[in-house]
Amino acid sequence: MAEQLNGKVVLVTGASSGIGRAVALASAREGARVVVSDVAVEGGEETVRVIGDAGGEADFVGADVSKAAEIEALVGETVESYGRLDCAVNNAGIEGVLAPTADYPDET
Ligand SMILES: NC(=O)c1ccc[n+]([C@@H]2O[C@H](COP(=O)([O-])OP(=O)(O)OC[C@H]3O[C@@H](n4cnc5c(N)ncnc54)[C@H](O)[C@@H]3O)[C@@H](O)[C@H]2O)c1
Repeated sequence: MAEQLNGKVVLVTGASSGIGRAVALASAREGARVVVSDVAVEGGEETVRVIGDAGGEADFVGADVSKAAEIEALVGETVESYGRLDCAVNNAGIEGVLAPTADYPDET
């Protein structure tokens, strides 16, 4: 099967472990250039290493998604480095009050 994300830039938050790491690895396998982001640096660098060892392309950019300024910096750095952002997998998070995304205030 042809790779489905060739040339695309995919940003994954919470990509140092679990679902985020799995999405990052799968995206790279499908040909995407992956920006791996997390508060946990060691795990993020391990995700980047695994992608690189498999012949894929990835970079780690640390960010705490509970801080709006860090999210803005993360997206800015991604666009500056790659010239585009095709897909944002906003995976990092903790469980809290459930509501439609548009109804959450920034603090949440
Ligand atoms: N696994 C499940 O069954 C399940 C079910 C429902 C929802 N979720 C949600 O899916 C997401 C991923 O789940 P998982 O099981 O892979 O969890 P996980 O704990 O394995 O991974 C979460 C990652 O997010 C990172 N992270 C935590 N807070 C962060 C922050 N403020 N900024 C940046 N990174 C941060 C952690 O360092 C970790 O690498 C979470 O948001 C979780 O609430 C998971």
